Amino acid sequence: MNVHIPRSEGLDNSLELLSEGYLFIRNRCRYLQTDVFQTRLLAQNVICMTGAEAAQLFYDEERFIRKGAAPKRIQKTLFGENGVQGLDGAAHRHRKLLFMSLMTPGRLNDIVDLTYTQWRKTIQKWESRDRIILFDDVQEILCRVACEWAGVPLKEAEAGKRADDLGKMVDGFGAVGPRHWQGKEARKRSEQWIETMIEQIRDGELNPPKGTAADAIARHRGLNDKPLESKIAAVELLNILRPIVAIATYITFGVHALYEHPECRKKMQSGKGPYVQQFVQEVRRFYPFTPFVGARVRRNFTWKNYQFEEGTLVLLDVYGMNHDPRIWNQPDEFRPERFDHWQGSPFDFIPQGGGDNSLGHRCAGEALTVRVMEAGLHFLTNEIDYEVPVQDLSINLSRIPALPEDRMVIQRVRRKTL
Ligand code: HEM
Repeated sequence: MNVHIPRSEGLDNSLELLSEGYLFIRNRCRYLQTDVFQTRLLAQNVICMTGAEAAQLFYDEERFIRKGAAPKRIQKTLFGENGVQGLDGAAHRHRKLLFMSLMTPGRLNDIVDLTYTQWRKTIQKWESRDRIILFDDVQEILCRVACEWAGVPLKEAEAGKRADDLGKMVDGFGAVGPRHWQGKEARKRSEQWIETMIEQIRDGELNPPKGTAADAIARHRGLNDKPLESKIAAVELLNILRPIVAIATYITFGVHALYEHPECRKKMQSGKGPYVQQFVQEVRRFYPFTPFVGARVRRNFTWKNYQFEEGTLVLLDVYGMNHDPRIWNQPDEFRPERFDHWQGSPFDFIPQGGGDNSLGHRCAGEALTVRVMEAGLHFLTNEIDYEVPVQDLSINLSRIPALPEDRMVIQRVRRKTL
């Protein structure tokens, strides 16, 4: 017997989504006392879900597809068009293999080394500056790291602008108005830059090192044994560069946590590997970054007596799950130790998506993210000292993506004397 999926109040909840941001799904699940509810967003029927069981369902490829799941406004800013995010089945698996082949242990060690090198170079500049807006500077550091790691030439003079554009593509996806338009323009510029570069590689004018993303993507052949269209190759190479720059968000939140929890800072200073790892995991759990992920119902099915109709857009609440008391003890407390001997499943800790990252849509760069965060936050606690001046440290959960209001200002940076 089918039962109706509970429905949220109001004809269309788009305005509520804008004003409640990360809390939109959680608020309604709590109010309606359910893990599943239906609503209308941007004039279409949408089912919202939360909880580990719902996550397991969401990542079942027999039930859901990604084709047509991301609205145009997200493709024009965050994702790009015709990239891996919107593929299904064999075409997805083949493209995903390309991404996963770039994430070998050796290549992850390379990016850690590059990260330390860039931080150390930056310190020379920071020591002579009054105040640093950490988020902005970390984006630029990571843009240099990303380009070098991916085999993308980056002129010294253009690093700031490219970093800014890669950041704006992320900043613009959850917005309406100027922030969104800036994201679209930034994507156009970035795609032109990278598409030209892909053509240069194919013409033999540029030769990025073997094993780098630029080399692998330019030479990748699809299931039809043809090279990717150069525009799609650009989208995919940006699927490497853009998210590496986006790790700046997590590092900024990490520094926020170090400031708010001096005891964690001390442990990071004396801590060996495991504590740094636990701290990084807790930053990814505690702070808001991905609000939710979306897919469409492949064909009609019933789950827990609820009818899911073919084509319906379904959103899984990533932020809500990171704060779900059924999964986490005292979820609104920042406690890295919770990850000591943590035994989770691929469906209950999903800040970068759930399930399997080679077979499904889980983030291709999750291990890389963790390694770059560990290196950056270890560096910030062990190699330099800085002060945090009075500023607005609040985090507005209705802004997607979120950041500390003043983007984490630090001052009086100096190298630690060892
Ligand atoms: C900055 C932190 C990051 C966050 C919060 C993040 C988050 C996510 C999320 C939520 C997804 C979608 C999961 C799904 O649809 O089920 C995803 C997919 C993806 N991410 Fe990340 N990611 C990050 C970093 C990275 C990095 C560093 C890379 C590459 C170097 C990367 C590459 C990708 C790719 C290629 C996909 C598409 C996977 C697919 O559709 O199969 N991400 N990420």
